[in-house]
This record gives sequence, C-alpha cells and structure tokens, in this order.
Amino acid sequence: MIQLKFSYKNALNFVGKQDIFKYQEAIDSHFLAIRDRTGRGNDFLGWTDLPSTIDETLIRKIEAAATRFREKSEVSVVVGIGGSYLGARAVTEALSPHFNLLKKKAGNPILLFAGNNISEDYLAELLQVLDEKDYTITVISKSGTTTEPALAFRLLREHMEKKYGLASGETKERIIVITDKEKGALKQLADEEGYETFVVPDDVGGRYSVLTPVGLLPIAIAGFDIRELLKGAQNMAAFSATSSKIDVNPVATYAAVRNTLYAKGKTTEIMVNYEPRLFYFTEWWKQLYGESEGKENKGIFPAGVSNTTDLHSMGQYIQEGMRNLFETVLSVEQSQHELRIPDDEANLDKLNYIAGKRINEVNHMAELGTTLAHVDGGVPNLKVNIPEISENTLGEVIYFYEMACAVSGYLLGINPFDQPGVEAYKRNMFALLGKPGFEKETEAIREKL
Ligand code: PA5
Repeated sequence: MIQLKFSYKNALNFVGKQDIFKYQEAIDSHFLAIRDRTGRGNDFLGWTDLPSTIDETLIRKIEAAATRFREKSEVSVVVGIGGSYLGARAVTEALSPHFNLLKKKAGNPILLFAGNNISEDYLAELLQVLDEKDYTITVISKSGTTTEPALAFRLLREHMEKKYGLASGETKERIIVITDKEKGALKQLADEEGYETFVVPDDVGGRYSVLTPVGLLPIAIAGFDIRELLKGAQNMAAFSATSSKIDVNPVATYAAVRNTLYAKGKTTEIMVNYEPRLFYFTEWWKQLYGESEGKENKGIFPAGVSNTTDLHSMGQYIQEGMRNLFETVLSVEQSQHELRIPDDEANLDKLNYIAGKRINEVNHMAELGTTLAHVDGGVPNLKVNIPEISENTLGEVIYFYEMACAVSGYLLGINPFDQPGVEAYKRNMFALLGKPGFEKETEAIREKL
C-alpha cells in the first residue's frame, strides 16, 4: 500500500463528480500510452521505470562517490539549473534541519547551489565562502552546454585549481560531472581532465531526472538514504501500475480533477505547504508542471505559497482576488520534533487557551481554517497528504507528481516532455552578447533596441 492520500472533497462545491469521471476513458488510454510508450514525447519516458530498473552497481557507485565527497567537504557545491538542480534541492532541503548550524552539528556537509542564476554578487560571495572551506563540486548539465552552469563551473574550477593545485590530483578528486554519456562540452572536459562521471540517461528529461544520479548523488552527499527514496518511488510506481481508475489511483484522480477545474476557468494552481522545509519542493513542482504543461497557449499556471508565512502576504489575494485559482495542499501529519506551548501566568498574549498543545496541532488548525476560508471564498482545495517527511514518503510524492504530470499533460493535449519555449531567451541573450554564429540575430535585435 502507498502512504500518500489524495482528497478532492473540498473541490466538490465547484465541480461535479460526473465532470471529473468523464475523463476516465481518456485517462485509461493515456496510462496505456505511457506504459507502452506510444504517446507524444515517448522517447522521454525513461523516468517511468527508473525506480525499479536502477541497478545495484550504479547505486553503489553513487554511494561510494558520495562517501568520498562527504569525507572531503565542509561544503559541497552543486552546479546546475532547472531540472539539473531543483530535484536535489527539493529533497535535501525537505530532509535537512532548517538551520545550517544544526546541519553542521549532524556532521553533514552543507550543500550550496550555483549555476542557477547569473548574479555576479552571488558568485563572488560563493567564492568568498569557498576561500575558507574545504569543498567539492558536482556539476550537472545534461546538454553540457547550458550557459548558467558552464559560467559558474568555469569560475569554480579556476578557484579550485588555485586552492588545491593541479599537480597533486586533489582537484580531480574533488570534481564529479553528471552529463550525457557521449556528447557535449562538459563530457569532453570530464574526459580530458579525468573527472569521475555519471550519466543522465538519454530518455529522461531534466525535470524528471531526480531519481537518476542528477538527484541521487547530491542527496547522498547531503547524507540521505537514496535507497529509501527509491523504495518510496518504487512503491508508488507499482501501485500506479495496478489501476488507472479515477476512484482508485490518486495519480488518475489528481490529473482528472485539476483538468476539470481548468476546464471551469481555474487556470492557476497554487501548491501550498505549511512546512518551510518544503519550500523547494514547491519550486521543483512548479518547474515540473510549468515546463511540462505551459505550451501551445495552454496550461495551468503553477504557483506556490508557504503558509502560514504567505497568509500574511498572498492570503488576501487568494481569499478575495481573481477567482481563477485552486489550491493543492501538500499536507504533512507528523512533525519531527515535539514542542508544546508553555503556560504563562500573566497571559498578556492571551495564548493560555492553547497552552499545553503541540505547535503542530496549531499549525494543522491553521491549515484547516485556511482551507475552509478559501473554499468559502471560491477557491477549490485539493489535498495530498503524507504521514511525515522522510526519504520514503518523498519518493512516493515525487513519482506521484511525475506520473500525474504526464497524464495531465496528455489530457491537455500537449507534449509534457519537451520545452521548446525555453530557447527564446537564450537566442536573445546570445545575440546581445555577440556569440559567434548569432550575427544575424545580433543585427536584428539591435534594431529592436
Ligand atoms: O527540465 C529541463 O529539461 C530543463 O529545466 C533543464 O533541466 C535545464 O534547462 C538544464 O539543462 P541542462 O541539464 O542541459 O544544463
């Protein structure tokens, strides 16, 4: 059995069950198309059986590399952008203590991320940190040519070579490359320099790659159990393979309900969490759904809020703004720690009525109260529930969202595995920077300025 539970009872004021279940036939055929690899983008379906097909040799190789990096690093830098970093960041932040001081206490290297922006200040300050720390680098790029990670890696490599020198072989020991098995500049560099490499499988796109070395290696470096993560994903994959019925499989339910809401004008989905450690999980989900579905002038816009923080910023809009919203709460039952509200004789803050209660209980009442208020305000609410945040439950949730994204994208009638629109900004940037080969574009863009 799976631990994840999905509920849409708080959407039923807005859509009827008959509207949801009319997708059943289409969903059955999309499940088959995914299984038999006959739908659009079918050469990028390798992620579907990753949890069950990943072999022991690869897991051991990842664990060995992670152990080497853990021994060598106070800080381990993960260089990548989009699908080449968000999965690792989502899982490691979800599992880590909130504060770096506690991470350090647990004996784990601090993961820092680079190559996901082009901020001079960010990179300069990162190098300042690395001046003082022993560090390692994992550079991840499937294409091996993406500008942001290439730029960051160039700076980091120079820094590392100065810090550790080339002669001792220490620099080589401190860099791992995850890229295509044969093509791309990064692969060529890794071969020339003799860096250890891992492969991003051809048939797995960036945003579906968290269960490949792209996600698994940084997660293992941070000290987490990748076998449990894979076990959770395997569990969800096995369950999902048993049925495509909307009333049985939460993957089918979620895909059907969100498309029903979309058809009724609910064009923005807000992923909601009540645990700050899930902030980057929402970022991962936003990329997965945004890049998969936003095309051909269609698609639900994925947004995110972290509550109760954002109830004091976005709460007003969600309660009373444009009524094109629905929410999906990623709800966690148990917290990792137990903390009760102390009694206070003076009771100036008038909190004695909840003295003795767990903070987690208050958080859950905030969640329930918000859900009911938003439903009353015209915002349908879906709920993905897990008992706790652990490697195992995150594995389930990852596979759930990936599979639902594929089914949902097919229901929308688009290819959920490509991202043609991402090229537009790159062409303009290359033209503006005068990249060789972009002379015509440079001329055209200068005329527009
Ligand atoms: O999901 C995707 O395919 C993208 O977000 C890519 O992961 C991102 O653009 C980075 O690409 P690459 O790994 O080739 O550097």
